[in-house]
Amino acid sequence: MIPADPAPLLLLTLTVSSVLAAFFLLGLLKKLLRSVGRERLGRVRRPPAPPGIHGIPLVGRPSLSYQPTAAARGSTSSYGPAASGTGTASRQASSGRPRSLSQQPAPPRQVLGGDSVGFSKMYMRSISELLGKQSLLCASPENHRRLRRRMSTLFNTQSLEASVRTFDGLTVEALGKWKQGQTMVVLEEALKITFAAICKLLTSIEREDELAEMQRDISEVTEAMLSIPLKLPGCRFFKGLKARRRVMTSLRKTIRQRREGSEHHDDFLQSLLAMDDQRSSDDQLTDSQILDNMLTLIIAGQITTASAIAWMVKYLDENPNVQERVRELHLPLLVGNAPGENNLDPEALGRMAYASMVVKETLRMASIVSWFPRVALEDCEVEGFQIAKGWIVNVDARHIHSDSAVYDNPGKFFPLRFHKDPKPYSFLAFGTGERTCLGMNLAKAMMLVFLHRLVTMFSNSGRVHLHRHRLAV
Ligand code: HEM
Repeated sequence: MIPADPAPLLLLTLTVSSVLAAFFLLGLLKKLLRSVGRERLGRVRRPPAPPGIHGIPLVGRPSLSYQPTAAARGSTSSYGPAASGTGTASRQASSGRPRSLSQQPAPPRQVLGGDSVGFSKMYMRSISELLGKQSLLCASPENHRRLRRRMSTLFNTQSLEASVRTFDGLTVEALGKWKQGQTMVVLEEALKITFAAICKLLTSIEREDELAEMQRDISEVTEAMLSIPLKLPGCRFFKGLKARRRVMTSLRKTIRQRREGSEHHDDFLQSLLAMDDQRSSDDQLTDSQILDNMLTLIIAGQITTASAIAWMVKYLDENPNVQERVRELHLPLLVGNAPGENNLDPEALGRMAYASMVVKETLRMASIVSWFPRVALEDCEVEGFQIAKGWIVNVDARHIHSDSAVYDNPGKFFPLRFHKDPKPYSFLAFGTGERTCLGMNLAKAMMLVFLHRLVTMFSNSGRVHLHRHRLAV
């Protein structure tokens, strides 16, 4: 229907669009002035801003790119910022936010360590849509502290003991199925074992069909975390959101059955619900906090540990002397390789000193989690550079792990280097500070168990040939 007099409508439309345009231009101008101001400030006052380019205001550089600087720094696998080429910190802009990358041991202390009050963990909104707003990885700092306190109790000594036994049982069973001459893809095998172990520990899921369905959904959520967040049918992100919904429905049903008392298991979920029964209602975890964090633990625990195991097998293959040394030390420790027979416990793992060093050296060389991005909560100085509030400072663990100033001959797989404790803030495999990996002891134990079973169930003398990530038995 056309109004009798279109003039007022036209006038209104024009006014609204002019106001919107004015706001947009003002925002742009403010941002430009602020960035010019900062440049000036940087020139007049010390310290300077890190070298590098900002990109277009509001938009920034469309993407970050990194290039190897190994040759320049005499290390094997470090990656430095493309913008600066040299130096220890650089500045780039991604999605309009300047980013600074630091590679020296000092910043982890400042950015991740005890002094990290000026920085907060950086996460993308799309990740919180997939893991949930209540996930430890996405919660606000105050919420994070409370959630972490509650979740840490799940990783006590008692539960570690049960976890080691469970993981051992599953490893013996899985490795027992490997046949002579068969080629196994270690990453896939390790994923199956870690996934089954974590699901059993968290929610006692054991039925093969349930596990398979859950694993399909979890891998869709994981893939979506690395995709462009498009909510269009067929896109990875969209599929990930749908998979999250299915996981939530299944976990919600389990929680209901546990609350009604129709099901009871000794697992993490049961401990969380039992703890809640003893607390005041203010201190209880809500169902969505429990659900989001169950999903977070499954995702944070399985792929990281499985990748670490796959890297460990690769390094053992490339270093037959290390492999033989572990085997020599472990055959006398062997008390049984049959499923269900004499499962390992943390005390037995405590006697595996050299194998523990193999685990640490693997984690150093592989740097499974390579970067730790943090947002500056206020203007500050890092490594002599001015960092403005809102900038992202990215601690580059991979670079630190392969820096010859920190580790002698960093390209060599040399477990005995961990005979001595590494210098503070130079071993960041599990992060540091208040965000240190919650499953660190569990992950190290799983790697040790796998290593022990691998070298004692298979020998390298003709029966086993380890190559790349494949294992021909
Ligand atoms: C080799 C295996 C693993 C590696 C290399 C690893 C590494 C890490 C790292 C580096 C962080 C800190 C990230 C940051 O500061 O930004 C982290 C956090 C975390 N990890 Fe692990 N992780 C492993 C296994 C596990 C396992 C088995 C679990 C639990 C089942 C787990 C649960 C978590 C959780 C919940 C956090 C978040 C902690 C917080 O923000 O308070 N991780 N992990």
